[in-house]
Amino acid sequence: MFDFRPVGDCPKPDAYRQLHDAAEALTSGEPDGVANMANIAALLWDFLPDTNWAGFYRMVGGELVLGPFIGRPACIRIPLGKGVCGTAAAEGETQLVEDVHAFPGHIACDSVTNSELVVPVLRDGDVVAVIDLDSPLKARFDEEDRQGIERLAEIISNRI
Ligand code: SME
Repeated sequence: MFDFRPVGDCPKPDAYRQLHDAAEALTSGEPDGVANMANIAALLWDFLPDTNWAGFYRMVGGELVLGPFIGRPACIRIPLGKGVCGTAAAEGETQLVEDVHAFPGHIACDSVTNSELVVPVLRDGDVVAVIDLDSPLKARFDEEDRQGIERLAEIISNRI
C-alpha cells in the first residue's frame, strides 16, 4: 500500500518537499506515462487543499488533449494559445492566474473555478504536457506554488 500524505500542517515549502519526494518515489523506474500522470494527479489532489481540479493535458499532434486528472469532466481538446492551458503550452511559460474571470479567453470547465495555475512540462526544450490546477478560491496559488509545481514538472519530465 502507498501512503503518501502531507504530514501535518506544515509550511508550503515543506509540503512541496514532501510532494516531490512522493512523486519521485512513485514514478521512479516506472516507464508507463499514463500510470505516472494518474498517480501524480492523485498526489496533487491529496497535497493541495482547496483545489477542485488537478491533472494533465498532453501535447498530441499540435494541440492539448486531456490526460489523467481528478475533478469534474473537462474539455477534451484545447488549441495552442487558447485559454490558460493553451497559453502556457504556446509560450512554454507558467500561467499564474489569480482571477480566471479576468483572463481573456479562459475556458470554463467548472463554474466554481476562480483561480488557476498551469505549468508546462518541458522535455528537451519542448512542451510535452501541462499540469493544470484549479481552485474555487480567488488567488489560491502564489509564487511558492509556482516554484513547487515547476520543480514537480522537472521531476516527472522524462516519466510521462
Ligand atoms: N481553464 C482551462 C481549461 C481546462 S480546465 O480548467 C480543467 C483553460 O482556460 O485553459
